[in-house]
Amino acid sequence: MTATRQILVTSALPYANGPIHIGHLVEYIQTDIWVRFQKLRGHECHYVCADDAHGTPIMLRAEQEGITPEQLIARIAAAHQRDFADFNVAFDNYYSTHSPENRAIAETIYTRLRDGGYIAKRAIRQAFDPVKQMFLPDRFIRGTCPKCKSADQYGDSCEVCGATYAPTDLIDAVSALSGVTPELKESEHLFFRLGAFEDVLRQWLKNNDLQSGIVNKLNEWFEAGLQDWDISRDAPYFGFEIPDHPGKYFYVWLDAPIGYFASFRNYCARSGVDFEHFVGPDSSTELYHFIGKDIMYFHTLFWPAMLKGAGFRLPSNVFVHGFLTVDGLKMSKSRGTFITARTYLDHLNPEYLRYYFAAKLGSAIEDIDLNLEDFELRVNADLVGKIVNIASRCAGFITKRFDGRLADTLDDADLVAELQAAADGLAGCYEAREYSRAMRDIMALADRANQYIDRRAPWVIAKDSARDAELQAVCSMGIFLFRILLIYLKPVLPATAARAEAFLGGGALCWADVNTLPLGASINKFEPLMQRVDREKINLMVEASKEQQPAQAVAPAPASTPAKSEAPAKVEAASDSQTISIDDFAKVDLRIARVVEAKAVEGADKLVQLTLDIGTEQRNVFAGIKAAYAPEALVGRHVVMVANLAPRKMRFGVSEGMVLAAGPGGSDLFLLGVDSGAEAGQRVK
Ligand code: 2FM
Ligand code: ZN
Repeated sequence: MTATRQILVTSALPYANGPIHIGHLVEYIQTDIWVRFQKLRGHECHYVCADDAHGTPIMLRAEQEGITPEQLIARIAAAHQRDFADFNVAFDNYYSTHSPENRAIAETIYTRLRDGGYIAKRAIRQAFDPVKQMFLPDRFIRGTCPKCKSADQYGDSCEVCGATYAPTDLIDAVSALSGVTPELKESEHLFFRLGAFEDVLRQWLKNNDLQSGIVNKLNEWFEAGLQDWDISRDAPYFGFEIPDHPGKYFYVWLDAPIGYFASFRNYCARSGVDFEHFVGPDSSTELYHFIGKDIMYFHTLFWPAMLKGAGFRLPSNVFVHGFLTVDGLKMSKSRGTFITARTYLDHLNPEYLRYYFAAKLGSAIEDIDLNLEDFELRVNADLVGKIVNIASRCAGFITKRFDGRLADTLDDADLVAELQAAADGLAGCYEAREYSRAMRDIMALADRANQYIDRRAPWVIAKDSARDAELQAVCSMGIFLFRILLIYLKPVLPATAARAEAFLGGGALCWADVNTLPLGASINKFEPLMQRVDREKINLMVEASKEQQPAQAVAPAPASTPAKSEAPAKVEAASDSQTISIDDFAKVDLRIARVVEAKAVEGADKLVQLTLDIGTEQRNVFAGIKAAYAPEALVGRHVVMVANLAPRKMRFGVSEGMVLAAGPGGSDLFLLGVDSGAEAGQRVK
C-alpha cells in the first residue's frame, strides 16, 4: 500500500430550502463510497459538507412561511442531516454557510481580493420590483421568450427552446413575486476580476488530471473570454453584509464554496486536525470536490481563482457527475419519480440504492438512469442472489455441526488467491470512481464463489457423517470467500457490512484484511443480511411520491418544477409543503365563479382564456388547463377562483385572477368547483 495520504473531500452544499431527493443522492452516495474506500485503505480522509443557507429563494420562502430565515434553515438542516444519516452518508462534519466561520473566511477572502486589486466596482441597471421593493434575480422574472415566443419563461432562459438571454430581452416581463412589470433601476455592484486569473487557471488545468469534459468546457470558456463576476447583491438579502459596503451582501455563490472551508475549520477546532496544513498555499494534502455538471463554472473557474487570489491552495481535482433520470426520463412529480430521500427510506433499504448507483456510476460526466425494474432485478440477483447467498448456504452447517468454528485449512487455496489477487484492480477502480466496473468485477468473483459451492455441494456432503472434516472445510471456504467479497463491497454497503462483521465476529474489517484469513476462528449465528427487493414496495414509493403534491393553482401560469439553483422558492416548494399562518390564508379571497365564455388562446399550447362571472363583475383569466379541458366544455361550469390576486400582464392580455385545480398536471388536472346550487360570487371560505 502507498504511504498514508491526507485528503479533504467535499460534496456540493444542498440549498436549505427543499428536501434531499434521489437526484441529489447520486452525488452524496458517490462521494461517500469514495471516502469510505479511502478510510478503509488506511488513509486520513476528512469528508465535510454543509447546508447552503443564503440567497433570495431562502429569504422569500421564510417570509412566505412567516418565519425567520434562521428558523427555516435550522429546520431544513435537521431534515437534511436525518436523510443523509439514514442513507449512511457519513460526513465527518455537516455545517451551515450561515456560520461565524464562514463569515470570517468570506471576509478574509474578499479583503485579500480587494487589496490585491481583483475587485472592481460599477453601476448596473437591473430589474426592480416596485411592490416588493427589491431587485429581482433573473429566475424571479417571467415573460415571453424573445426567440420562440413561448409564454411564461424565466428571465434567463427559455425552457421550451433553450435560448438564454438577459431579463430585459423578455417580452412582457413581470415579477414572479408581485405580478407587476419590473422597473429598471441602477445600483452599484462589486465584481471579481476573473480574467486576471486566466494564466493561473490554465496552469491549474495543465497540472491536474481533470476529466476531459471539464478540460473541454474550460477551453471553451477561455476561448469566449473570462468575464468579471458580479459578487454583490443589494438588501434585502439573506447573507453576509460586505464589510466595507453597508447594505450590500455577498452573492450566495461567493460564500457557498467558502462553506467547504468553514465546515472544515469548524471540524478542525473540534478534532484537532490542522486547518492551515490542509488549506495553506503550499499544502501537501489533497483536496477534492464532488459536484454535478450544472455547477462546474463555479468550481473550476471562480473558486480556484478566488483561492489563488486570496492566498489559499487550489483544489487537487473536481469530480463532476451527470444527472439522474428515472425510467429514462427527467424526474417527474406527476409520474411519481420525483422521489425524496425520506419517501424512499419509508419504503426501501438505502443499501439497495447505494448498490444500484454504484453499479451505474463511472468516472465520466454522464447521466445515469434509475430503471425501477432493473433496480429490483439487479439488487435481487446480485446482492441477495450472489453475495448474501454465499454466507447463507454455508453458515448454518458451521453453526450447527461445528459449534461455529471455521476450519484451520483452505479447501481451495487457488480460489482464495484468485479473489485476493483482485484487490489491487478493484482498488484502482474505486480510486478512479469506476464503481460500475468494480461492481461488475466483484459480481464475477461472487459467481466464482457460488460455482465452487455448487460444485462441492455441502448439502450432499452433510448427509454423510464420515465426511465432517470435508463439510467444515467446504463451508469455511464459503465464509472465507464471502469475507473477501464483503471487504470489497464495504464502501458501498456499510450497514450490511457491519451486520456481516458482527456475524464473522472478528471486528471491523479493513481493505488489508483481504489477506488475513480467519482460519480456525469462531463465527456467530447467521442472521439474514438483506431482504429481497419487493416490487410492491417500489410501487408504493412511486404512489407516495405522487401523493405528496399539494393542490396546484393553475393560472395564470402553468406550474413547472425547475431544479435550478436560483429558482423561486415558490415553485421549488412544490415537493415540500409549506405552512402559512391563518391570517395569511384569510387574505385569500376564494369565490365561486361561473364560466361565461371559454376559448383557446392562439399561440399558446396550454392556455384557455376564461371569462368568469363573480356576481359583481366579470373577469378575464388565463388558465393553463387546455390539456385537461376542451374550452367549450367549460362554459356554464362553476369553478373556484382566487379573486384578489394582483392582475398579471401576460403576452395575450391581463389575467385577473386564478382558477384552482388539483392533480399532477397535464391532462390529469381537475378544476375545483361546485355544480349545483352554486351562485357566482359566493365566497368559498
Ligand atoms: O447548486 C446547488 O445546489 C448549490 N447549493 C451548490 C453549492 S456547492 C458549493 F459551492 F457550495
Ligand atoms: Zn423560447
